[in-house]
Parts: sequence; structure tokens; C-alpha cells
Amino acid sequence: MATATAVERDYSLVAKVLHWLVAACVIFIIPAGIVMVNVELPDATRNTLYNLHKSFGVLILGLMAVRVGYRLTFGAPAASGALTPTQYLVSRIVHFTLYVLLIAMPILGWAGTSAFPAPVPVFGLFEMPALVGEDRELSKQLLAIHGYLGFFLTAVAILHIAAGLYHGVIRRDGVLSRMI
Ligand code: HEM
Ligand code: HEM
Repeated sequence: MATATAVERDYSLVAKVLHWLVAACVIFIIPAGIVMVNVELPDATRNTLYNLHKSFGVLILGLMAVRVGYRLTFGAPAASGALTPTQYLVSRIVHFTLYVLLIAMPILGWAGTSAFPAPVPVFGLFEMPALVGEDRELSKQLLAIHGYLGFFLTAVAILHIAAGLYHGVIRRDGVLSRMI
């Protein structure tokens, strides 16, 4: 029986597709969120941006639900032999934090929008049901937490991307290829 070493084993195709779909959505949704909240825009443009932000957020939540189910069922490849024990520990903490944030963020956005109350359309195809009843104060609080966590997610994602590029471009130790 062939024994694959940890470094040789890639993430599965399903894990890779889910990773890059979510990554692309996140790379779109964060700047969209920051722009729609902070930049002076014509109403129609702002509305479109809000609708796209909400739609991609719901898509992320759906993809993450599949991803968590997949991860719990099939696991992930063993640690890359290129990582020191400390790097491995840090990467586990970062990945776990990303999973938690990628589930918490859309739920907070959805709940905060429902409490406002405003609709949560998904690519003009359908609307999500309200998660909570009307409550302006609650909406303000939920969306404020959504905003703070959004900046935390941005910082963690930048750290993660920098680490991925460091392994892929500088160290060229096979860690990045596990996800490509
Ligand atoms: C992973 C998914 C999501 C991420 C990373 C994300 C990220 C962000 C960010 C960075 C902001 C800007 C915060 C600021 O500048 O103060 C924002 C604002 C906002 N997001 Fe999201 N978001 C996500 C999902 C959602 C979803 C699913 C909804 C609603 C269904 C939503 C609704 C909103 C709303 C209403 C605002 C404006 C809040 C305000 O006016 O202060 N977001 N989001
Ligand atoms: C250019 C951008 C990115 C690169 C180069 C990259 C690279 C990687 C690599 C190489 C791994 C596997 C690490 C290992 O084998 O130990 C990984 C895992 C992961 N990435 Fe990324 N990534 C990028 C963007 C993102 C974004 C934007 C997110 C979400 C915010 C994300 C979330 C994750 C998560 C949650 C894992 C853990 C997967 C698991 O073990 O189930 N990545 N990434």
C-alpha cells in the first residue's frame, strides 16, 4: 500500500473548489461592505451594492454550511511536513477562526437586516425569511458587531493570504500547492 507523506497530500478537489469560491466571495464582499457604508454614492448604486453584499453573504453562508459538513465528514489532509509545530498550531487557530467568522458574519448581517427591518434578497431570485422581528436598537447592535468583526476578519484574512503567499512564493515548500 502506498503511503503518501503529509506534504504530498493535497486538499481534495471539493475542498479546493469550496475554498476558492468562498475566498473569491470574501474578497468581493469586504470592499463592497466598506464602500457601501462609507462612500457617498447615488442611491441606485448603493442599493445595488447592498443587494450584492447581502446576496454574496448568503451564498457564503450556504457554501460554509456545505464546507463544515464536508470537513467534519471527510477531514483535511494531515499537517504539511514543511510547517514547524508552532506554524501548524497558528495555522489551525487561524483556519478555525476563519470558519467561525465566515459563519458568524452572514448570520449577524442577516439578523441585523431583518431587525431593521429590511429585505435580504438573494441575486434577485428569492428573499431570505426574517431571522428576527423588528427591533431598531437590536439591529444597530447586531450591525455594529457585524462591522467590528468584519474588520477583524479582514485582518485575519490578510494574515492568512500573506502566509499562503509566503509559503508559495518565498519558501516554495509545497504548502500553497496543497490548496491549488
Ligand atoms: C461573510 C459574509 C460577510 C462579510 C465578510 C461582511 C462584511 C461587511 C463589512 C466589512 C461591512 C462594512 C462595515 C463598516 O464599514 O462599518 C458590512 C456592512 C454591512 N453588511 Fe455585511 N458582510 C457579510 C455578510 C452580510 C450579510 C449576509 C448581510 C445581510 C443579509 C450583510 C449586511 C450588511 C449591512 C446591512 C451592512 C451595513 C451596516 C451598517 O450600515 O453599518 N452582510 N459587511
Ligand atoms: C490569495 C488568497 C488565498 C490563499 C493563497 C490561500 C491559501 C490557502 C492554503 C495554502 C490553505 C491550506 C493550508 C494548509 O495546507 O495548511 C488554505 C486553507 C484555508 N483557507 Fe485560504 N487562501 C486564500 C484566501 C482565503 C480566504 C479569503 C479565506 C476566507 C476568508 C480563506 C480561508 C481558508 C480556510 C478556512 C482554510 C482551512 C481549510 C481547511 O483546513 O478546511 N482562504 N488557504
